[in-house]
Amino acid sequence: MTFQEIFPGMFFRIVAGQQRLATRSRDLVPVYGERIMDGYRIWDPFRSKLAALLLKDKCMDPGLFRNAKVLYLGAATGTTVSHISDIVEDGLVYAVEFSPRAMRDLLRLAERRENIIPILADAAQPQEYSSIVEPVDLVYQDVAQRNQAEISARNCERYLKACGKLLLMLKSRSIDVTATPDAVYSSEIKNLSGLMVSGVMDLQPFHQDHWAVQARRPL
Ligand SMILES: C[S@@+](CC[C@H](N)C(=O)[O-])C[C@H]1O[C@@H](n2cnc3c(N)ncnc32)[C@H](O)[C@@H]1O
Repeated sequence: MTFQEIFPGMFFRIVAGQQRLATRSRDLVPVYGERIMDGYRIWDPFRSKLAALLLKDKCMDPGLFRNAKVLYLGAATGTTVSHISDIVEDGLVYAVEFSPRAMRDLLRLAERRENIIPILADAAQPQEYSSIVEPVDLVYQDVAQRNQAEISARNCERYLKACGKLLLMLKSRSIDVTATPDAVYSSEIKNLSGLMVSGVMDLQPFHQDHWAVQARRPL
């Protein structure tokens, strides 16, 4: 059995009875120790919340395509960024990260991939990268900060195209350790001003206390 394309650039296959997601890459050097099979990079849902979301909701359209432009907030060392870079082969990933240590690894990845633009900046200050980032089709946010939703809304207001998509990976324990996760995400999504929320998914069993929120910017 071979990999089956479920969305542009995203592939699915059962391997030894297990559901596996993968992306196809020109660069087959493992980024985070992932397995390479027949020219595909296996996408680990325990390491990437986007892979977890896609495995939990296989009909959900992540809003990624071959020439899409993506603003990725909280890029870390590039685990998920690398798979998005595979998918948006002729597009761009603006990868914002504020930790210089993580940025060192991200820079090494960007040296091998022309479509990753690493940006050392604070995602809470979107004006800091206005001279670099163009309007984007997708904003992906995984910064695990108390005001995650507000940071997303500010970036979407400045950079997301009309009808573009936001994927926000909310970490309820970063926002309020005393409240239940349900209460946290219900109150946080009210801070997504200017956006229309279309879905919320709990990322268990892959990631505890994490919710993936999908929203769109209306015309
Ligand atoms: C959970 S990790 C991201 C993992 C990554 N998204 C992945 O799937 O490969 C969160 C990252 O966000 C970064 N971060 C947190 N607050 C930030 C901010 N305000 N601006 C930019 N990066 C931030 C942290 O340094 C950390 O690397």
